[in-house]
Amino acid sequence: MSTRDLAAVAQAMVAPGKGILAADESTGTIEKRLASIKVECTEANRRAYRDMLFSARGLGQFVSGVILYDETIRQKAADGTPFVDLLAKNGILPGIKVDTGAKDLAQCPEEKVTEGLDNLAKRCAEYVKLGAKFAKWRAVITIGADIPSSTCIAANAHALARYAAICQQAGLVPIVEPEVLMDGGHTIERCEQVTEWALNAVYEALYMNRVSLEDSVLKPSMVISGKDCPRQAGVEEVAERTVRTLKRTVPAAVAGIAFLSGGQSDEAATAHLNAMNRMSAGRVPWPLSFSYGRALQHASLNAWRGAAANVAAAQAALLHRARMNGLATLGRYSADLEKQPLAA
Ligand code: 13P
Repeated sequence: MSTRDLAAVAQAMVAPGKGILAADESTGTIEKRLASIKVECTEANRRAYRDMLFSARGLGQFVSGVILYDETIRQKAADGTPFVDLLAKNGILPGIKVDTGAKDLAQCPEEKVTEGLDNLAKRCAEYVKLGAKFAKWRAVITIGADIPSSTCIAANAHALARYAAICQQAGLVPIVEPEVLMDGGHTIERCEQVTEWALNAVYEALYMNRVSLEDSVLKPSMVISGKDCPRQAGVEEVAERTVRTLKRTVPAAVAGIAFLSGGQSDEAATAHLNAMNRMSAGRVPWPLSFSYGRALQHASLNAWRGAAANVAAAQAALLHRARMNGLATLGRYSADLEKQPLAA
């Protein structure tokens, strides 16, 4: 793919009114999700669940791309259509998670570094053949008493940048995801400070590794109070601090920003995105969108419960959340819309 094509893909990923569905849970993670609805984690059930999500009619109206896992990109819908083709038919770009997970960072207790650079160029070439247009790599940064360390920030920024360069060379748009975890009792001020540090390190590393920013999408966490912090910042404060931090650190050339939900409730993730778009309309250089996993799937997973009879209700739940988040990318969401069913 030429760099012009990559930029077009990157822009399509964050097109107005749309965002990304992260359905790239590793087998270990999807096992936990399926266990929560008492469904066994077999290949057949993983396939059936993703089939339910991807065959939701009209999903392409609110979802520009879906991130897949290695197993999923090779699977087919019940009627034999490869998932990649099913998505393409709905106008949805297929993407692929290419990291191999966050592993313990040597010499840095409680910290992680994401692995997966070995053979990455070769794996990307195969994913391109399978139809992938973009890729994802998630780095994890934990806030604690004496962490993150500068070792953790630098190691993860370097790995993200090497990944992004390899993807672009292979013809995939990289989603660059440095996630500052919500876990812990830290304040929102501390989250802001760590997020600013991590993003500065990431953009320096991307520069050093010759990554083309126009051909990339950033997937950050929001600046938010730690889950166990006694003071939970409100929607406006989260939106203000998040936008401020991004303005300080993310170059204007980046094609777009698609947030992760990170364990926020479904409605909080939507309300935060909406508030950011409302307050920054026309005043930030990038589209602000979503790339949610849990906050898009949660209601749908609970409606599905592994039963074919529940597929329609589960798809309706997915479409509803996708529509709410689509509206939030335009700053047009409000909580009363939660009660309004999708017009037929
Ligand atoms: P969450 O929205 O559930 O945080 O997942 C997004 C994702 O893709 C994490 O890598």
